[in-house]
Amino acid sequence: MLLLGAADGDERRFECPNEFHMDRPNVREHVAFGRGVHSCPGAPLVRADGRITLERMLDRLADIQISEAKHGSGEPSV
Ligand code: HEM
Repeated sequence: MLLLGAADGDERRFECPNEFHMDRPNVREHVAFGRGVHSCPGAPLVRADGRITLERMLDRLADIQISEAKHGSGEPSV
């Protein structure tokens, strides 16, 4: 079985794969929606959903921070 999520988490392909970087130079190479003839036909809908969700959140929230007390420092715990 092919695990697309594992491919997108491959650090040989994507530096720091567990971090959210919108400006990755190879951002368009991810396979979250598959690839080829069976790639996801719902992708444009979901991308629009995501954009609208983020825009609405940012319209309402001026200062967003991750709580280190709840979520840790972001450093991997090995
Ligand atoms: C974040 C949301 C979604 C993700 C991550 C996602 C991901 C995927 C992936 C990876 C595939 C390819 C699977 C494979 O290679 O066999 C796929 C196929 C498909 N997706 Fe999505 N999908 C999402 C949302 C949607 C939505 C909203 C719809 C419909 C409105 C949809 C409809 C389909 C259909 C019909 C296929 C089969 C395409 C085919 O086999 O030709 N998906 N999706």
